[in-house]
Amino acid sequence: KIEAKVDSVLSLMTLEEKIGQMNQYSANFAATGEVADNQSGEYLKKGMIGSTFNAFGAEKVHMLQEQNMKYSRLKIPMLFAADVIHGLETTFPIPLAEACSWDLDLMEKTARAAANEATASGVAWNFAPMIDMAHDPRWGRVMEGAGEDVYLASLVARARVRGFQGISDYNDLSKNNTLIATAKHFVAYGAAQGGRDYHTTDISEINLHETYFPPFQAAIEEGVGSFMTSFNDLNGVPATGNKWLYKDILRDSWNFNGLVVTDYTAIMELIPHGYAKDLKHAAQLSLDAGIDMDMISEAFVMHLKELVEEGSITESQIDVAVARILEMKFLLGLFDDPYRYCDVEREKEVMMNDGYIDLAHKAAQKAIVLLKNDNNILPLKKEESKRVALIGPFVDERKSLNGEWAIKGDRSKSVTLREGLDEKYAGSKVSFNFAKGTDLPLLDRKTEKVSVVNVPDRSGFAKAVSVARNSDVILVAMGENYHWSGEAASRSDITLPGNQRELLKELKKTGKPIVLVVFNGRPLDLSWEAKNVDAIVEAWYPGLMSGHAVADVLSGDYNPSAKLVMSFPRNVGQIPIFYNQKNTGRPFDAERPADYRSNYIDVENTPLFPFGHGLSYTNFKYSNLKLDKNEFSKGGSITATIDITNTGNVDGEEIVQLYIQDIVASVTRPVKELKGFEKLALKKGETKTIKFTINEETIKFIGLDMQPVVEAGDFNLWIAASSADVSNHLKFSYK
Ligand code: IFM
Repeated sequence: KIEAKVDSVLSLMTLEEKIGQMNQYSANFAATGEVADNQSGEYLKKGMIGSTFNAFGAEKVHMLQEQNMKYSRLKIPMLFAADVIHGLETTFPIPLAEACSWDLDLMEKTARAAANEATASGVAWNFAPMIDMAHDPRWGRVMEGAGEDVYLASLVARARVRGFQGISDYNDLSKNNTLIATAKHFVAYGAAQGGRDYHTTDISEINLHETYFPPFQAAIEEGVGSFMTSFNDLNGVPATGNKWLYKDILRDSWNFNGLVVTDYTAIMELIPHGYAKDLKHAAQLSLDAGIDMDMISEAFVMHLKELVEEGSITESQIDVAVARILEMKFLLGLFDDPYRYCDVEREKEVMMNDGYIDLAHKAAQKAIVLLKNDNNILPLKKEESKRVALIGPFVDERKSLNGEWAIKGDRSKSVTLREGLDEKYAGSKVSFNFAKGTDLPLLDRKTEKVSVVNVPDRSGFAKAVSVARNSDVILVAMGENYHWSGEAASRSDITLPGNQRELLKELKKTGKPIVLVVFNGRPLDLSWEAKNVDAIVEAWYPGLMSGHAVADVLSGDYNPSAKLVMSFPRNVGQIPIFYNQKNTGRPFDAERPADYRSNYIDVENTPLFPFGHGLSYTNFKYSNLKLDKNEFSKGGSITATIDITNTGNVDGEEIVQLYIQDIVASVTRPVKELKGFEKLALKKGETKTIKFTINEETIKFIGLDMQPVVEAGDFNLWIAASSADVSNHLKFSYK
C-alpha cells in the first residue's frame, strides 16, 4: 500500500524535485525564518529540501513546515531530525554512564521519554543511538556509546532503538510519538587511530564482523529506521563512499531497506580523504555506494542532475533513494498531516514533566560507579557527626553536568553537587566547609586547544589545604569540563586536567581521608588517585539531577549498583586496553613472571579498574557454582547456576556476569567473553540462585569465511563480579 503511494508521488516528481528530497540542512537551532542563512533558503523556495535538523519547538517547526508546504509543488512534507542523544529537555546521564547501570529496561525508558519530548517538539527522526564500538578512551565520543563489549553494546543498541521508536518494526510508525532511530556511525568510527577524532581505521574483515558490526545488526533486528555513515576511512575507502559496506553488506547481505543519511559534510570530505577529485565525483561515489540523503555537503543537490544528464548515474538510482525517503514520510503520517509532530499542548504537558524528572534522578543514581572505598569511608552517614571539607571545581559546577550532546537540556537547571549535598544533609550531623581550590582549564573551541588564559593557577591551594586541615574527611569534586569529551574532543593525556592532581597532592599531605568524586565523559587515568585517595566515586556526567544523585550515593541513601562498561587504564601507553583481548603466544602470568613475555617493562598488563568492576556498600558472596552437565552437543544446552548472597548490612543490587573462553578454535578467541549477565536486588542476608543457559548461540563465533560457526572443543566458564574475577570457574565441552 505504501509502495503504491510512494510510486504515485515519485511518478509526478521532476528530477530536480527528487534530488531536492535527498538534500538535508541544519536550521542551526534558529528556526526563525526561511530555513537558514546558507543556500538552504534558495533551495527551500524551489521545494528542494527533504529534511532539516536542529529545529525545535512545536510552533517553530510548524512555521518551517508551513514554509516548505508553501513552496513544495507536490506538497511533500519535510522531515525534521535532531541529535537527541540523552534526552531532549530532561537530560539523562550521558549514554556511557547510563550503560554502566547494565539496566536495559532503564535505557529503554529514558530513550522513550526522550522520544516523547522530541516528537512533541516537532522532531520525528533521531540521530541516535550511537552504537560505535570503542576501545580508546582518548576518543571523546566514547561518552555516547556503551563501552567496550560487543555483547552488552548490542543489547544496549536494541534497548535504545526500542525506546526511541516505541515500536517493533519501522513499518508501523502510526503513533505520533514514534521517533525514528538512526544506527550510527556505520562503521568503525570508534576505532579512529590514536583516538583522534575522524581519523583513519584499518580493521580486518573478521574483526568488523566480530566486533564492529553486531550492534548494527542488532539495531536492524530491532527495526531501526535509518543508518548514518561514519566519517572515517575504512581500510582505504571512506565509509561515505564505501560500496562494499553499504551495498554488499548493509543492503544485500543484511537486507536493510531504511534510509541512509551521511554524517555532516561527509560527502564533501571524500575530497580531502583523497578518494574523490571534486564534489561532483564525491556525489557520484556516494550515490553509487547506496547513500540516500546528503547532510550539508550540497553535493547531491548541486551535481546529481548533471551526473544523470551525462549518463554517469541513472535516474533509477535516484528513484531508489527518494522512494526510501518518501516511504519514511508516508509511514510517519506526514503526508496525511505534516504538522502531526507539532502539538503545542502535548509539548507543554510532556516536556520535563515530573515523571521524567524522577526518571532522570533514578537513571543518574544507577549510573554512578563506586570504584574504590577503603575502610568503608563511604557512605558519609547523616547521623554521624563529621566535618567535611568540600573542595574542587565541580562542587559548584553546573554547566558541565549535562555533558556533551545535551541538545536542549537547559544547563542552568542542572542540580550542582553543593545543592544536592545541602538538601541531603540539611539538619544532619554532617557539616561542610568549602574551598574551590582550583579551576577547570577550558577549551578554546576555535583552535581546539586548551586555552592558555584559563590554565588554572595555585592561588586557591592554600585556602583549600587550610579548610582540609580543619576537617574529618575531605570530599573533593573534580573532573573534565564537558567540552573535553564528545565530538572533536580527543585527548592525548587522560589524567585530571589542569592542576587538579597537584591540588590533590597538597590535600593528601594533611593526612585526612579523601573521597574523590569525578565528573567526566571517558575513562580517565586515575592511577595516582587510586593509590592515594580512600574512595573514588565515578559520577560521569549524570545530567539534570546530578547533585541529588551523587548526594544519594555519598550519603548511602542509594547503594551504588553500577559497574564499568569500559576499562580504566593505568596510563595512556596501555591503550587500547579491553578485557576481551587475545592471549598471544607468550602470555604474561603474574604468578610466574618470566622474561620475553607479552608485557610492559614499566606497567602491569591489567587495567587500573577492569570492565565489569563496581563496588557496593554491601558485599556479595558467590558460591556453589554448578553445571547441570559438563558437555552438550548440537541443539542441546547446559545450565549453569550459582548462589549469590548479600553478606553485608544493607540491601543492594549486584550485576552477575557470565564469561566464557573457547580454549582452542580455528580462529583464536579472546581470553574471555561476556555472554550473559543479570542484575539482581538482594536484601541483606538474602541469597538468590542465578541461572544461565549455555547453548550454541553462546559459543558461536565468526569463522574465516565470515560466517558464524560452532566448533567442538573445551571451554572455560566463569560467573563473576567483574571481568577480573576468576574465583568461580568451571569447564565444559561441546561435542
Ligand atoms: O549526528 C551528528 C553526528 O553524530 C556527528 N556529526 C554531526 C551530526 C549531526 O549533528
